[in-house]
Amino acid sequence: MTKFKLILVLGGLLGQSQALLANSGYNRNFVGLLEMVYGVGYLSQGGWEDVKLLFDGVQLSGQKVLDVGCGVGGPALDLAREYNVQILGVDPESWIVMEAKNRLEAVKEPLRGRVSFALMPDPLSFMQFAPAEFDIIISKEAILHVPIESKLAYFKEVFRILKPGGSLIIKDWVCSRPFTDQTKQMMTDAGVPFNLISFDQYQELLGQAGFEKLQVFDETYQYIKYCDQNIQTVQDKKEDIIKKFGEKVFENTSVGGWNPYKQAFVNREIQVMKIVTRR
Ligand SMILES: C[S@@+](CC[C@H](N)C(=O)[O-])C[C@H]1O[C@@H](n2cnc3c(N)ncnc32)[C@H](O)[C@@H]1O
Repeated sequence: MTKFKLILVLGGLLGQSQALLANSGYNRNFVGLLEMVYGVGYLSQGGWEDVKLLFDGVQLSGQKVLDVGCGVGGPALDLAREYNVQILGVDPESWIVMEAKNRLEAVKEPLRGRVSFALMPDPLSFMQFAPAEFDIIISKEAILHVPIESKLAYFKEVFRILKPGGSLIIKDWVCSRPFTDQTKQMMTDAGVPFNLISFDQYQELLGQAGFEKLQVFDETYQYIKYCDQNIQTVQDKKEDIIKKFGEKVFENTSVGGWNPYKQAFVNREIQVMKIVTRR
């Protein structure tokens, strides 16, 4: 067996065993609710509009792209449709990857041929990619879930599999001040792991992985607006939400919902950063 095949097999086995254990907290109900508010296929604020902003000015056409933490695949499908990219979306949550694959099945060629999805439970699974395999690597609001002790390993793998001169484009949340009790409660209630680091730590880890110069854009103000829009959307879709998820979910969403997030952004406890760097 060649070394490369052995790595593939090991990577696959590790992938399978850890996938069984993967529990990102993104269950079907939570994902269904997020899609109702952010748009079909989207699990992050701003939906497609925000993805377009993320790639404003980036030459995407014909590029080979990796989307880390792809969710149910809305961003990957829309990027392939709009910008003619070839894109692989990866996520550590097995049911989410299955869902993304099912949605891809419903898409017609030639679009279907430009998109794929795969289960990647951790940085070890990136070993199956050859060095310099991707032109662009993106990640939207997923690195915040990666355990703090694994972030450097992810960034190192991302550096290895990105082409020299290729871009890494990340939208992520960073912690900027100690969290209030309300923010801590909000993170517990969300039921997904929040593993936020400060921007200085981000810079340090990316630097250690090999990314030296960063362009950074603070987009927190935009997210305050998204929270207001989301609060409105929940009101507008009240009947649908109650029908699909029940009265209690509607109450939690409309009363508790996006207000604590907004407050955490307004207080600058959490900032939303767009980080662009090159290998
Ligand atoms: C907020 S959603 C964003 C999904 C997608 N990027 C989007 O914008 O619709 C976060 C995603 O990160 C994934 N995730 C959770 N833990 C992760 C990890 N350790 N590494 C990579 N992705 C992770 C979740 O399964 C989920 O699909």
